[in-house]
Amino acid sequence: MKNIVLTGFMGTGKTEVGKILAKKLGFVFMDIDQFIEKEQGMSVSRIFEERGENGFRELEAKAVRKVSEMRNVVISTGGGAMLREENIENLKNSGILVCLSASPEVVFRRIGASKNRPLLQVTDPLQKIKDLMGFRRRYYEKSDIIIETDNMTPLLAAEEIISALPHLNDVHAGDKNGKC
Ligand code: S3P
Repeated sequence: MKNIVLTGFMGTGKTEVGKILAKKLGFVFMDIDQFIEKEQGMSVSRIFEERGENGFRELEAKAVRKVSEMRNVVISTGGGAMLREENIENLKNSGILVCLSASPEVVFRRIGASKNRPLLQVTDPLQKIKDLMGFRRRYYEKSDIIIETDNMTPLLAAEEIISALPHLNDVHAGDKNGKC
């Protein structure tokens, strides 16, 4: 079986859902942000401070390359990973891309006050979420499956993903089962 790659915006539950999914499938769970933090010995926020967003994106691309080569893993990507063509290519070669989606309001409720998201340390985080999401939607929509998580617990989302997997052969571009 191919790897499962979770994509989507911050606060859509990729890490939590990924852990549950990995357990259910007997896969290893790999979180790209955590992989970077371990390799660099510092938090994502600190990397943003010291190297800027571009510096972080370079490390992210390197981490995506490495983790994509592993087998039997559920990979949770950072919300910006799909912005680079190189990452999309590596992740698509590695497995099935499942995008978790949520409305800006729900994302804001889940992580709006978090200090761990450098891109949201602005005076109006909700507006920033709306802007980033609007710009990024077309990248997230390159995923194979899209799961709407607004009214879903992480457990339900994991179960929904598993039930969508056998139907993958029916999933074609433009034939998505939701909006991202
Ligand atoms: C980012 C999302 C974060 C992390 C970094 C940048 C983004 O990951 O990679 O803060 O650009 O959306 P999560 O999606 O896991 O929060």
